[in-house]
Amino acid sequence: MSEARKIPFRNPGWAGNTGEFDLTEAQVRGDEYVGKRPPEGGHASGASTYPYMLAERDPEAPIFDGPFKERLEKIRSRYPDARSALLPALGMAQELRGYLSPETMEQVAGLLDLSPAYVRGVATFYTMYNKRPVGRFLIQVCTNISCGICGGDDVLQAFLNNTETELGETSEDGNFTVIEAECLAGCGFPTTVQINSRYYENVMPKDVPEILERLKAQGE
Ligand code: FES
Repeated sequence: MSEARKIPFRNPGWAGNTGEFDLTEAQVRGDEYVGKRPPEGGHASGASTYPYMLAERDPEAPIFDGPFKERLEKIRSRYPDARSALLPALGMAQELRGYLSPETMEQVAGLLDLSPAYVRGVATFYTMYNKRPVGRFLIQVCTNISCGICGGDDVLQAFLNNTETELGETSEDGNFTVIEAECLAGCGFPTTVQINSRYYENVMPKDVPEILERLKAQGE
């Protein structure tokens, strides 16, 4: 471990706490910090900006019913044509179902009056859309340059060892899928790990068991 990794100003696993502050994760990550996220999308201006990886999903959930239908309408109202609403619509489908199956892509295509081939082309271009089922927690470990030179590979291996999975596999209890990610834009705080929609920064291998335990205990 380099000297630079030993400095006391260390984020203990969630953005915002850099050592001199004593914020709990709930204070940093809670609703008060990020605001409420009602399923119908709240104000139209924010309706397309929701996170699309939640721990609880239902692969059979309807596309889109009730408040989610309302949110789709708000999203569509933001754009001059339906095609422009495709990314947030796919995000909402993933939020509900956990991944985008070919059937889901086809259903979204139907709702936006687009061809299934076009929707599939877009969905398969972006790695943030899961094309197959993942665990309740999708753990994306950055191993790009900044994180790589600060031990990103060791962090990745620690997640794999502690979840007893291979890369991309889902753990037996259905909780965890670990994958390698390209730069997550948290280069100043290596190793950066994205778990569902949340960032964990300055993660070291020794932090991994505690992070996994907290996820299992708290739900997220
Ligand atoms: S290199 Fe890891 S977040 Fe940029």
